Amino acid sequence: MLILGIETTCDETGVAIVEDGKKIISNFVSSSVFVHKKFGGVVPEVAAREQIKAIIPLLKKSYIGRNGHNIDAVAVSYGPGLIGSLLIGVETAKALSYIWKKPLIGVNHLIGHVYSCWLQENPKFQTQNSKFPEFPLVALVVSGGHTDLLLMKDNGKYHWLGGTRDDAAGEVFDKVARELGLSYPGGPEIERVARNRPRFQSKSKSQISNFKFTRPMIYKDNLDFSFSGLKTQVVNKIRNSKLPDDIICEIAFQFQEAVVDTLVSKTVKAAKQNSVRSIVVAGGVAANERLRDKMHEVGAVENLNIFFPEKENSIDNGAMIAAAAYFNFLPVDPLKLLADPALHF
Ligand code: KG4
Ligand code: ZN
Repeated sequence: MLILGIETTCDETGVAIVEDGKKIISNFVSSSVFVHKKFGGVVPEVAAREQIKAIIPLLKKSYIGRNGHNIDAVAVSYGPGLIGSLLIGVETAKALSYIWKKPLIGVNHLIGHVYSCWLQENPKFQTQNSKFPEFPLVALVVSGGHTDLLLMKDNGKYHWLGGTRDDAAGEVFDKVARELGLSYPGGPEIERVARNRPRFQSKSKSQISNFKFTRPMIYKDNLDFSFSGLKTQVVNKIRNSKLPDDIICEIAFQFQEAVVDTLVSKTVKAAKQNSVRSIVVAGGVAANERLRDKMHEVGAVENLNIFFPEKENSIDNGAMIAAAAYFNFLPVDPLKLLADPALHF
């Protein structure tokens, strides 16, 4: 079954065709991040306008036959996200489904991220570990807007275990990066700068030992997160000082360690509490190599199977939406689907 997946929740426009929920036939993403960079974050009105410009060219590029004859269904993420951006994808998908007379599936963007871990069949995307995740599993969805833990017993059977009480992990990466004078989006920038740490490590140890940050809530008996205190802690260290490169690098490294340790600790706790052997980590922050390494290290010690999407599929894309729709095939009336900016689980 070939599903056309459309993703327009924020500043990425994604259009993809996926076969049987796994094999990517085409996967095009256009990002307006270059416009938002100069504002240090996404400007919703601008993002919506860029979605309008991008969607038709991406559809034309995709391998869609005349009148969509090779497409079996149309899937779209209908929330959560920015209303202006969401509307572009949702209305486009509704129109295509209606004209082509093909089923329409509305996908929760966060659940879409989880299914990015099934997109591994195409040789181009093949990893060493080409196994697919098995249920029951714990999913950590960690992005710019969300940090949530889910227990998934099967496709469509999920239970929210906990999430952030304030800022999302990606949001804090973005804010700390901005304070450090790095560009948007902050996650990849923090990761890049932190990687330079060995170059500076011969420098005075006493100077850099000032920069150890707390791992928020890891000893609390719940599966919630809270990152705003950590953000304030880091920002207070940075404020009022022009920092040399080695200190910027050390702060980026120590901040990243604090976030990664917290995410790993709570996710493993969720798996153990629910007697689950598989963990799926998805969303923009799942692109982080340090998070990948530490999750795999702990997974090996705890005998857990850890799954991440390919790095390029961690950020928003249409393929994950098509995959989620295949495994949760619940068509809706194309005239009735509405964008839902505050959609939760
Ligand atoms: O999933 P996503 O593309 O959009 C949302 O649904 O929010 O996630 C974007 C977020 C941004 O906050 C970005 O800084 C973060 O993912 N991110 C990363 C990395 N790449 C993207 N965070 C840490 N390390 C990365 N390598
Ligand atoms: Zn996302």
